[in-house]
Amino acid sequence: MYVQWYPGHMTKAKRQMQEDLKLIDLIIELTDARIPLSSRNPDLDEMGKNKARLILLNKADLADDAKTAVWTDFFQKKGYFVVKADAREKKNMKAITQVIAEACKEKTERDRRRGILNRPVRAMIVGIPNVGKSTFINTYAGKACTKTGNKPGVTKGKQWIRLNKNVELLDTPGVLWPKFEDPRVGVYLACIGSIREEILNTQELSLELIELLQKLYPGVLQARYGVTEENEAPKLLLQIAENRNCIKRGEELDYGRAAALLLEEFRNGKLGKITLEIPKQEA
Ligand code: G4P
Repeated sequence: MYVQWYPGHMTKAKRQMQEDLKLIDLIIELTDARIPLSSRNPDLDEMGKNKARLILLNKADLADDAKTAVWTDFFQKKGYFVVKADAREKKNMKAITQVIAEACKEKTERDRRRGILNRPVRAMIVGIPNVGKSTFINTYAGKACTKTGNKPGVTKGKQWIRLNKNVELLDTPGVLWPKFEDPRVGVYLACIGSIREEILNTQELSLELIELLQKLYPGVLQARYGVTEENEAPKLLLQIAENRNCIKRGEELDYGRAAALLLEEFRNGKLGKITLEIPKQEA
């Protein structure tokens, strides 16, 4: 299956982000914990060099905890600060504040040596569409925060949200698009629901997901749908349609409905906490 998806306004968004990056100390990059590499855009590494970097493995509530730990280690070894989260949960935010402080320690020290005291760290949220950027900003900033408004020397119109005495957040997140060079990236993104449905062949995608699950999480499909996992993917989809009563008028099995059901249940975590991508050996 080949998924192709390039929005036309990408170049403009990238230019805007490059401008915004000049204003900040720390990039908080959200990725989806179920596909931590495929849900990033590696161009950010070039665009954000010289900035402190924090990777937030979001939607960790839907991902496999053991694999999230492996990914945390993977990114830490590459020099990123890493934290996992469910961006909808306020209680996760304290840990994030601590990691932000840690990530910006060098900058804070440098400021202090120059006699600059208490200048808050400026951070920006970046990530691909649907990864949870707005949710994170809303949960993290909450109601208690104050918008600090324009500042002298800062591009007109920029709004900063004061999170606490140490951190200010740019209120508009930076949107990047995933890179589709490896065809698996498109499939993973489609599986987690980050690609518009109308450009997808749901049935074909469900077969890809079935094959991934057979390989990575044997037993999961059998447990949820009572299917025989040794079968090939199309036969499994047929069994899901049978066992879940997906039937068209005239008693014919409705594969489309079975495919949509499987994808929806996977995306909502009904099949359990599942991570589709594991760090590549060579990476
Ligand atoms: P974006 O700004 O990066 O585009 O993403 P946004 O915050 O709009 O979040 C996209 C969807 O992901 C939202 O669901 C949001 O509720 C959900 N979400 C964000 N963070 C998490 C998380 O950590 N865990 C889980 N499970 N979900 C998360 P939606 O489908 O647009 O709305 P709804 O159907 O959930 O209401």
